[in-house]
Amino acid sequence: MLNIAVRAARNAGDIIQRASHNVNRLTINQKSQHDFVSEVDFAAEQEIIQVIRKAYPDHAILAEESGEHSGNDYIWVIDPLDGTTNFLHGFPQYAVSIALKVKGKLEVGVVYDPVNDELFTAERGGGAMLNNRKIRVAKQTNLQSALLGTGFPFKSDEHLDAYLAMFRPLCIATAGIRRAGAAALDLAYVACGRLDGFWEIGLQEWDMAAGVLLIQEAGGVCTDFSFNNDYLQTGNLVTGNPKMHQMMFKLIEPHVNEKLTKPRSS
Ligand code: IPD
Ligand code: CA
Ligand code: CA
Repeated sequence: MLNIAVRAARNAGDIIQRASHNVNRLTINQKSQHDFVSEVDFAAEQEIIQVIRKAYPDHAILAEESGEHSGNDYIWVIDPLDGTTNFLHGFPQYAVSIALKVKGKLEVGVVYDPVNDELFTAERGGGAMLNNRKIRVAKQTNLQSALLGTGFPFKSDEHLDAYLAMFRPLCIATAGIRRAGAAALDLAYVACGRLDGFWEIGLQEWDMAAGVLLIQEAGGVCTDFSFNNDYLQTGNLVTGNPKMHQMMFKLIEPHVNEKLTKPRSS
């Protein structure tokens, strides 16, 4: 199944890279405030679904652009192009994200960066790899030297105050914070130690499913804002190596309100 995920991700990456030379000619639609989708997102998603359905016609699919496709207990969770806004601006930080969930458990995760031809893969119990070499999360245990990643809650201002309240102590405590604009790739960067930790409010399942498995298989810890494992449901995620996660959580926790602990409404 990992092989199928890799094939699908690479095919989608080829579609995305071919289109990257002509972004000005693409048809772009607005899904909601600050949320755009292009014909490339749709084409990449169709290609991924076709590869998966051909190999596993009975499996179910949850894909960002086309939603749920019914099937058995095997659910493929797909973000065909994570970082669409970057892509549309020629900002070379975007990726394809594909995960397989079986009875609620993440079993396979692939994040493919077509710009740098970097393929991040993980299988439950089998470790995490970058271009076939084993990766581990960073060993950093000092917050002062840590480089963190994050995402801003840019789609609405509902959680902006809570987010900014968390941002302040983390900004003061760490060596730097990056907002690169593609959550799946940010998580892959945590898995391979380029980032020491990451947090974001309001993610969707397809943004994080593959990246979470990469991090777990690389020795990292992922939790929601209640220190539980309901990040796929709440959309809120804190992650890093066990010590980094603990230190970040301590600074985030005082600013967590009740809404941030509940499953997302949409
Ligand atoms: C977005 C990116 C971004 C994150 C957003 C996501 P998209 O995904 O991952 O970094 O902050 O929450 O929606 O829309 O480009 O697939
Ligand atoms: Ca996404
Ligand atoms: Ca997307």
